[in-house]
Amino acid sequence: MNRYDSVLEMIGNTPIVRVQHLDTGPCELYLKLESTNPGGSIKDRIALHMIEAAEKRGELKPGATIVEGTAGNTGLGLALVAQAKGYRLVLVIPDKMSREKISTLKAMGAEVIITRSDVGKGHPEYYQDLAQSTADEMAAQGHSVYFINQFANPDNPEAHELTTGPEMWSQMDEDLDAVVIGVGSSGTITGLSRYFAKVAPNLELVLADPEGSILADYIATGVVPKDAGGWLVEGIGEDFLPSISDFSRVKKAYAISDRDSFHMARELLENEGLMGGSSTGTLVAAAVRYCQEQTEPKRVLSLVCDTGNRYLSKVYNSYWLREHGLIDGSNFGDLRDLIARPMASRDAVVVGAEETLANAYKRMMLYDISQLPVMDGERIVGLIDESDILLAVYEDESRFGRAVSSAMVTDLEFIDYRATMDELLPIFNRDHVAIVMDEGKFLGLITRIDLLNFLRARANRD
Ligand SMILES: Cc1ncc(COP(=O)(O)O)c(C=O)c1O
Repeated sequence: MNRYDSVLEMIGNTPIVRVQHLDTGPCELYLKLESTNPGGSIKDRIALHMIEAAEKRGELKPGATIVEGTAGNTGLGLALVAQAKGYRLVLVIPDKMSREKISTLKAMGAEVIITRSDVGKGHPEYYQDLAQSTADEMAAQGHSVYFINQFANPDNPEAHELTTGPEMWSQMDEDLDAVVIGVGSSGTITGLSRYFAKVAPNLELVLADPEGSILADYIATGVVPKDAGGWLVEGIGEDFLPSISDFSRVKKAYAISDRDSFHMARELLENEGLMGGSSTGTLVAAAVRYCQEQTEPKRVLSLVCDTGNRYLSKVYNSYWLREHGLIDGSNFGDLRDLIARPMASRDAVVVGAEETLANAYKRMMLYDISQLPVMDGERIVGLIDESDILLAVYEDESRFGRAVSSAMVTDLEFIDYRATMDELLPIFNRDHVAIVMDEGKFLGLITRIDLLNFLRARANRD
């Protein structure tokens, strides 16, 4: 084991592991674990190189502010390097990013500006445009600013040409037939393409692209599609061709659906013990397809680009997946399909009538929900929500010790699970939640957001 003087020395030299349990046809599939970088992703490499190259050129001076528009991982890499080197860091991030990433960035001392993710390049609120204008404004005010601009920064692909490529080649004993990768800024694919053109010109570069991105189509047809769709996988997929990109040696591409990406990410954890992010699912799903299509044995390498720890609220949260139509919920064809946390599967979060208000509060916080059914054994006897607790304890905090039954609401709206969806609306209009029953048996709650999630998931499926 190595000992290091600085966390920056731990960037790169990531391990490679062979996939053991997936069906890879005649091929051997290996994964390079970029998740083991100290910032948790492949972007640590470019953060270090882009900053040090700018320092060398004299463009980044001590005490300067670094600005970047980033979908997350580049920000975490930059935060790591900026912190170690004493730079102030301002990041513009689209609002679809996972909250784990944003909380981590803030905890690392970065200043975060959240912007819309529903607008495209050229719009002033698009994250890259807003980063550029933020950097311009700060410079106009006399600050020393360095705009990283990873999408147009040649130091980005160079980091991969100098480190990722040579590591891959030597770790695979200079015996490698194909590399399967995704594209965000295109730094990885462009840098690897340049490196392998020198040492292994016959090596195949295969693109793994989320469905909705324009890139897979572009590789297949040579034409840049006008419109991009949306996708939930983070870190990869594009709606334009970055100026640093060079796809000339990429001949094969797979468009992978969100559903397949999220399933594969979870399968990797379940069967291989590897916890990657959503893009890892895209890459491995494409790599497996490539492997299965081969007629001769090949050695194939792909990446675990970032750690799955920062997607606990998404990839590894079955409620989130169900809400987004990425896994199937129950399919009874009645109101039971709308219950997010059914009693039957032990997913319901409840509180006993004799438990304390402090317990009810703790449980709401833990599960991030705003109301709980109150139970007396198997029987539902009330509901308690945040405002009931607040009202009860506001003037006397010692009342957190009182029984839930003292503050719960008992005016309940029951609905039979065979009722129609239309019958929910009047209940919601009265500001109540629907308590779904099967004769005398409590099955679970339906709230407005459950109905919205159900309709959204149904629209996503259609
Ligand atoms: C999460 C994530 N970020 C970034 C990348 C690569 O991005 P770039 O094209 O910016 O080098 C990948 C590639 O697979 C990825 O999975």
